[in-house]
Order: sequence, then structure tokens, then C-alpha cells
Amino acid sequence: MRTLVFATNNAHKAQEVAQILGPEFQIKTLRDIGCTEDIDETAPDLEGNALLKARYVKEKFGLDCFSDDSGLEVSALGGAPGVHTARYAGPGRDAADNNNFLLKNLEGKSDRSAQFRAVFALVEADQELLFEGVCKGRIAMAPQGTGGFGYDPVFIPENYEDTFAILGDDVKNRISHRAIATEKLRAYLNAKD
Ligand code: IMP
Repeated sequence: MRTLVFATNNAHKAQEVAQILGPEFQIKTLRDIGCTEDIDETAPDLEGNALLKARYVKEKFGLDCFSDDSGLEVSALGGAPGVHTARYAGPGRDAADNNNFLLKNLEGKSDRSAQFRAVFALVEADQELLFEGVCKGRIAMAPQGTGGFGYDPVFIPENYEDTFAILGDDVKNRISHRAIATEKLRAYLNAKD
């Protein structure tokens, strides 16, 4: 079994990624390695923020580490909320507030197309690598479902009629932005062994 640090404290994300990577990988979160600091996401894009978190762990703890930064990009809003997805409705990072703010901003707009984008940064002793995953879809007219987290109740992936919050983990872990980026990471790690 191979141990990897995933620079997150989001238990949902850690669980999703661990499920996709499978039993040959043991995933440790920031809490597991005793990293209690809130690593500021101050970069102007997802790539920069992902690198910032993974580099921090590598420098401070000396462990190979990967991190993810993800965002929702909505066409009719010029790609917003993008890098500001977590705090779209304010610093409280409240998922229901974020969803309601998004729905309000889309009122009267006919184009509801959107995509989730995840960028993983892997920082190893001698190199840094980025892996991207995109999941296209559209924003629902109202929140639906109770599963998942964040914007799952308002995001309907392409080729489906229900939100991620209704579709559940089995579907999400096959087609999500994070699933695609995780598969790329897994392919790289397996090829390296
Ligand atoms: P971060 O990558 O933790 O900074 O997350 C950015 C924002 O995107 C947060 O508000 C998350 O809730 C949201 N987000 C990221 N991935 C997903 C997802 O799979 N479903 C719903 N929301 C997500």
C-alpha cells in the first residue's frame, strides 16, 4: 500500500478521491499529519492555489503531497464564480447561501451551461505536476437532492436530468471533475511504479 498526503480538510473530497484511487493507496489528510493551519488560497487561479497548498506541505512536512483546487465556471456569468467558488456569497462559505446566490444571478438568463473544473497539483521531491478534470453540465432551476456537498444540489451533469445531489456517489465518482483528475493522477502514479 502506498501512502499519499492529500492537502485537504474536506472529508467529502478525501472520501471521493480515496474511493477512486482504490485500496492500494492510503490517503492522509492535513488533519492526519497534524497540519492545523488554514493554508490561504491567495493565487489568481485554480492551478496556483493547488500548487500553493501542495508546496506548503512539502516544505513544512517534507512529505510528497497532492492537493486539489476546484471551481464552478458558469458561461452566462463569464466563468464566475471560478476561483471564488467557495466564498461566492460571502466569507461564510455557506453552501446554501452560495447556491441561492448563484440561482439569483442566473434569473432571467436562458444559458445555464456550466462546468466544474478541478486541478490537482502533485509535488514530489524533484518535480511538480498538474492534472486537470472537467465535468460539463448545467445549473438547475432550484436546488434538488440532499447528497454530496457544495454546489451538488444545483449542478446537473451532461447526459443526466438530475443533480449530483440526487445522482449520488456512484455516478459522481465516475464522471466528476475530481474523478477525471484523480484518474489522471492514478495513471501517472501507477506508470511510475
Ligand atoms: P475548493 O477546491 O475546496 O476551494 O472548493 C471550491 C468550491 O467549489 C467549494 O465551494 C466547493 O463546495 C465547490 N466544489 C468543489 N467541488 C465540488 C463538487 O464536487 N460538488 C459541489 N461543489 C464543489
